[in-house]
Amino acid sequence: MLVNATEMVKKAKDGHYAVAQININNLEWTKAVLQAVEELKAPVILGVSEGAGKYMTGFTTVAAMVKAMDKALNITVPIALHLDHGSSKDACLKCVEAGFTSIMFDGSHFNIDENIATTKELVETAHKNGLSIEAEVGSIGGEEDGVIGMGEIADPEQCRLIASLGIDFLAAGIGNIHGVYPPNWKGLDFGALEKIHNATNGIPLVLHGGTGIPEDMIKKAISLGVSKINVNTECQLTFAAATRKYIEEGKDKASKGFDPRKLLAPGAEAIKETVREKVRLFGSENKA
Ligand code: 13P
Repeated sequence: MLVNATEMVKKAKDGHYAVAQININNLEWTKAVLQAVEELKAPVILGVSEGAGKYMTGFTTVAAMVKAMDKALNITVPIALHLDHGSSKDACLKCVEAGFTSIMFDGSHFNIDENIATTKELVETAHKNGLSIEAEVGSIGGEEDGVIGMGEIADPEQCRLIASLGIDFLAAGIGNIHGVYPPNWKGLDFGALEKIHNATNGIPLVLHGGTGIPEDMIKKAISLGVSKINVNTECQLTFAAATRKYIEEGKDKASKGFDPRKLLAPGAEAIKETVREKVRLFGSENKA
């Protein structure tokens, strides 16, 4: 069932768990995520970066695929189709037009006045069209699909200003990084998270860079208002590892593995397993 993400994230906030945002890259990925969340009766947000959208020949193709797959697989759990890190008004509007149910405007690379002005405008457009909207303050570190963030800690006052614009959830940099965390990573800044939580009037918070964050930090972040956690790299890593193993063990030759449906099957199974792990860790199993 395709819906916006407002209710599912609000419910997670009240119930002290987090909805998983799992980013998708192709048909196999999407199918694996939908099957895993249906099995666990968990709501999910399918994240689509601008790069992934382009790879799949555009947001319209992605929306059509997800809608058709939702029906064909008889998915009963709530699914939101969400633009991840929309870098411009134009990208956000394209997703509204394409039939996405949720958008993120990441104005963190603009100055705060510009971030506020564009976010405000997009809140109106998103809500008028029934979509939920996420905004960002303080960039997330590391690289996400070619977009490089320095990983600043968000300023609570700026978070308060952006949260007051009527957005549905807020991504705030708290030392989180996209991709694999380096061995010398200092961990999440819970002092900053607490200040942001206190300054933003109970708005659900979003934790980007969900790959490889230890369980205790995930739990603590949820206790401080995080209600949506994004995962991308971990699915990519498990997909690649399973595909590599299948080929290295020569299974592709033994089982007519040049058939793409066979070649990609171990990777899809690995994604399902990663999604199951994340859903259980974030506490959203049986919350649909
Ligand atoms: P990871 O790639 O680190 O899992 O982060 C995903 C993310 O935050 C997408 O917005």
